Amino acid sequence: MTVIDPVAALAELAPVGADPVRGGWSRHLLDDADRGMRAWFVRTAESLGLAVETDANANQWATWAPAGATGKALATGSHLDSVPGGGPLDGPLGVVSALAAVSRLMAEGHAPARPIRVANFAEEEGARFGVPCLGSQLLAGELDTGRVRDLADASGATYADVMTAAGYDPGAIGRDEPRLRGIAAYVELHIEQGRQLEPLGTPVGLATSILAHGRWRLTVTGRGDHAGATELDSRRDPMVVAAEVVLAARDRAVAADPATRSRATVGKQRIVPGGSNAIASQVTLWLDARAEHDVDVRALVDAILTDAANAAAAEGCDVEVAEESFSTRVAFDAALTDAMDDALGGVPRIPTGAGHDAGILSAHLPAAMIFVRNPDGVSHSPHEGASDEDIRAGADALTTVLRALT
Ligand code: GLV
Ligand code: MN
Ligand code: MN
Repeated sequence: MTVIDPVAALAELAPVGADPVRGGWSRHLLDDADRGMRAWFVRTAESLGLAVETDANANQWATWAPAGATGKALATGSHLDSVPGGGPLDGPLGVVSALAAVSRLMAEGHAPARPIRVANFAEEEGARFGVPCLGSQLLAGELDTGRVRDLADASGATYADVMTAAGYDPGAIGRDEPRLRGIAAYVELHIEQGRQLEPLGTPVGLATSILAHGRWRLTVTGRGDHAGATELDSRRDPMVVAAEVVLAARDRAVAADPATRSRATVGKQRIVPGGSNAIASQVTLWLDARAEHDVDVRALVDAILTDAANAAAAEGCDVEVAEESFSTRVAFDAALTDAMDDALGGVPRIPTGAGHDAGILSAHLPAAMIFVRNPDGVSHSPHEGASDEDIRAGADALTTVLRALT
C-alpha cells in the first residue's frame, strides 16, 4: 500500500506552473499549469484506487468508499490553482494532505463508516475570470450561470469558450444538488495566511471565521495624449485618478473602527495604452475590500467609491464601477469544529481574512478548517512557506480528524 508523504508530493508538483517572470507559481483555470495539476490529482488518486470524477463545474472528486462505508461522504481537500505568482502551499497543501491522509488510513486498515471524498475545487483564486471560489460557488448555486459563461479572461476568452475547448458543456454548469446532498460535511486543511499560530508555538489550529470580502472593478476613462506636448492644465489623466483610489483604499481602511478589521487593497491594474511617453486613455483597477461584517465592507467600499468619483470629477475623467464578487462573513460550524478539536486534543482557534471554498460550502453544509503554521505569515507570494515538519504535522492532524469523523 502506497503511503503519500505530503512533502514529497509537493516537491513533485513544484515544476508545474513555476512562473519564470513573476516568480512563484501561476496556475489558472484550465491553462497548461492547471491541467498539469489536475492530471497529477487523477494519477495520484487513481494510484490509491480512488474513484475519480470531474463535475460539470470543473471540480475534481476522488472517492474512497470501501465495503461498509455508506451514506453521505465526509469531504476534504482544497484547490490546485493559484494567484498570479503565488506560493506553493495556498491550495495544494490541502489537496496533498487530503490524499496523504486517505493513503495513511488505507494503510493502517481503517474501515470508514462513510465514504471519504477528496476535492480539488476549480478556480478558487478567481485569478483567470475574476470570481473567487468559482467551482464551489457554482456547485452551491451561488452564481448566475449566464453571467459566469460570459466572464472573460485577460485575453478576451470567455469562461464558456475555455470550458468548451476543454471538453465541458458550459450549459451544464450550476448548482449540483445530488453532489451537494451527497456530502455530510467538509473539512479543508490550508496553510495559515497570517501569523497567529507561530507565537502560540503550535503547528496546527482550527478556523473560527472568515472576514466578509469582495472585489470591485473600477474603469477610469480619460483622454490619451502626448506626455511631452500636453499642457498640465488640459490633461484628463486616469492614472492620477487611479493613484488617488489606491491611497483612498489605504486611508479609508486605516480610518475605519479597528473593531471592523477593515482592509482594502488595489493589487491589479490595466493601463491603456501603457506607453511610457503617453498619457493613458483608460485605467482599470481592481479593489479588494474586507472587514468583519458585510455592512462594514459596504461602508468601506462606499467611502472609497465616493473618493474615486470625486477624484475622477476633479480630473475630468469618468469612472464606472462593477462588483465582481461579494462573499458574506463566515462562521464555521461549531459542532464540527468541536468534534475536530476533541480528536486533536485541543488546539488554538483563529479567525482568518482569507476566503476559502470551505466558507462557500458552510452556507450549505457543516464546514470547518485546519490551518498549518506559516512562520512568516506570508501568503499569495512566492515567499509563502511552512516547515517540512509542520506540513507533516498538518497531514497527521487531518488523518486524525478523518479517522475520528468516519
Ligand atoms: C483567497 O485566498 C482570498 O482570500 O482572496
Ligand atoms: Mn489564496
Ligand atoms: Mn486557498
